[in-house]
Amino acid sequence: MTPRKIIIDTDPGQDDAVAILLALASPEDIDVLGITAVAGNVPLPLTSKNARIVCELAGRPDVPVYAGCDRPLGRALVTAEHVHGKTGLNGPVLPDPVMPLQQDHAVDFIIDTVRREDSGAVTLCPLGPLTNIAMAFEKAPDIMDRVAEIVLMGGAYFEVGNITPTAEFNIYVDPQAADIVFKSGVEVTVMPLDVTHKALVTKPRNDRFRALGTPVGIAVAEMTDFFERFDKEKYGSTGAPLHDPCVIAYLLRPDLFTGRHVNVEIETRSDLTLGMTVADWWRVTDRAPNAMFMGDVDADGFFDLLTDRLGRL
Ligand code: RIB
Ligand code: CA
Repeated sequence: MTPRKIIIDTDPGQDDAVAILLALASPEDIDVLGITAVAGNVPLPLTSKNARIVCELAGRPDVPVYAGCDRPLGRALVTAEHVHGKTGLNGPVLPDPVMPLQQDHAVDFIIDTVRREDSGAVTLCPLGPLTNIAMAFEKAPDIMDRVAEIVLMGGAYFEVGNITPTAEFNIYVDPQAADIVFKSGVEVTVMPLDVTHKALVTKPRNDRFRALGTPVGIAVAEMTDFFERFDKEKYGSTGAPLHDPCVIAYLLRPDLFTGRHVNVEIETRSDLTLGMTVADWWRVTDRAPNAMFMGDVDADGFFDLLTDRLGRL
């Protein structure tokens, strides 16, 4: 089977880093055409630097990394150093990148790549705020019919918010962009907090990363050791939720996940619930379904897959 062509749009972020590593550890299944950085967990200069740090950690300085939008479409940037640390990759000590940042803007890379590849060939995998994706759709509406699908981490329904009482961080940072993406008509598969809060790096799972004994295994153990603090303190979790790797794991083993095809709309006006993903899980409205909204994951299967693939790097 030919590898699935994807673009990873990301705001590394320790969990983004693990997602990128999982994708790069799976060349027989996934062809990463490029990585586009967006402002989110930390500002754009850091997310575009961290994406390159992770590529070099994976031994893949050949993967082109592009800088994208440095702020949301319609509001000031909100970052999450309180979760990810000042650098966005706190935990391990990793060398600054040697590989260069590409000259083109990330939005132009997304547009040019989707236009160049066969229609239906490219899957977009956003792991942060949806600013770059929305800008690409606004600048080049023709690409929306050419994108195979979008598999993104963002939103929440039963889990409600992690940055406000009602909103998940990626959607909250840029609700306007999320609204554009969910109304684009492109097939969207959503990995919300409802799923990612079930993918927790418990101590035995962290020990398995460390036991790989490789620079990647040890770095992942140190990353998740660092960024579990927020969730342990807030939710009393038993470990760090591996939000973004759920997107890549879905590409590799969709059978690990279950969900429903429902309508999802984004709150873009109310200050009280800004960025909420209003998922019609119980189908109580006549709003047309527009997203495959995941609700559960086989966590043991997920971590078996992840640990096995990371062990290849
Ligand atoms: O709410 C979790 C999401 O926000 C993850 O993608 C994490 O990396 C942050 O971007
Ligand atoms: Ca992210």
